[in-house]
Amino acid sequence: MVKPQKSKDQILKEVVELTLRLTSQGKKITRFEIGEPNFPASHRVIRGLTETLRKEKVVGYGPAAGLPELRKALAAELSAEHNTRIEPDQILITPGGRFATFAAITSFVSSSERVLIPQPAWPAYEECVDFIKGRVIHFNTRLDDGWEMDLGRLETQLRKGVRLIVLNCPNNPTGKVMSKKKFVEIVDLAQQYESMILSDEVYDKYVHAKSPSILESEGENFVYVNSFSKQFSLTGWRIAYLVTTKEKALRIRRVIQTLITCVPEFIQRAALVAIKSGRTEAQRNINSIMKKVELTCRELSRIDVSFYKPEGTFYVFPKANKPNFDSARFAKLLLEQYHVSISPGEAFGNYPAFFRLAVSLPAGQITGAIRAIGKATDAWS
Ligand SMILES: Cc1ncc(COP(=O)(O)O)c(C=O)c1O
Repeated sequence: MVKPQKSKDQILKEVVELTLRLTSQGKKITRFEIGEPNFPASHRVIRGLTETLRKEKVVGYGPAAGLPELRKALAAELSAEHNTRIEPDQILITPGGRFATFAAITSFVSSSERVLIPQPAWPAYEECVDFIKGRVIHFNTRLDDGWEMDLGRLETQLRKGVRLIVLNCPNNPTGKVMSKKKFVEIVDLAQQYESMILSDEVYDKYVHAKSPSILESEGENFVYVNSFSKQFSLTGWRIAYLVTTKEKALRIRRVIQTLITCVPEFIQRAALVAIKSGRTEAQRNINSIMKKVELTCRELSRIDVSFYKPEGTFYVFPKANKPNFDSARFAKLLLEQYHVSISPGEAFGNYPAFFRLAVSLPAGQITGAIRAIGKATDAWS
């Protein structure tokens, strides 16, 4: 019998499960596999949540699109940040960026329609497309090309008909931030071939210089996704937002209404506090995480791997300079023998020689763990 292929999410889950098993046995694991910031939620934000519960006593159903005050505040903030005009009616509040991604895909892609996903990629895009029985077009990019998308190849695919293109800039797992010029060229091509763009910008605060945004492009055939998860270290709170045209927002709103009614009001009130008075504190924490990326790169340059120096995110995606490297097997060995947890490259596409490090860790742990990775790759055969 042919073994069913593991989903990419499953590859990541297995690493986390083994990590937790070893931790429960008392092993001290350096966890490079967790894609979450490690700073605590701000006291102000927590107060925003508890105050709502204390004052309101009863928290009832709310509008499916989200709390009007939160959408208004986001519209003002995004308009100023991107020098454009975003109306609150263009914004929907969702329980996480993953849900926003799914809601957008299920609203606009029919079964067997083609969705182009540049690789390597966050595995959830493919899971969403598989779920609705769409057709994933894996669009490979390479470390040797600086993870650039080739426009000629892209146009060849678009000519065949692509319903939706996923863009994720800054990128998980490579840390690549596209140039504005390249971003605009891709958006223009998509428009020319009437492909929609899903622009996932959840790491847009993890940058040294502003990253390009779909909100600064002409055209209406897009959905922008952002999330409070990485911006404010609120991953478990499940709150995010998307921006699109008013008409498209009405269509996506049906998904929220049908599946969850609304995001809980106290979470939305806390998110409102976050954007009104939590930005400075959060950005300080983000900047400190980004220094860890620099430390990680310095340490990686001392071991036998090749890598792209990220311009954004808190990920680095090195490649072991070994023939026949199998990063899933390597991840297991590294965990069991060296107590270091990483995400195998296969979770992000056909990249078995690569692995992803999420470096939201105390600096003290990073140096030793990368040396361990160096030893383990040297011993690899
Ligand atoms: C590229 C990317 N987009 C979106 C998300 C979604 O985050 P959340 O569902 O917590 O908002 C993640 C989470 O890891 C991600 O890496």
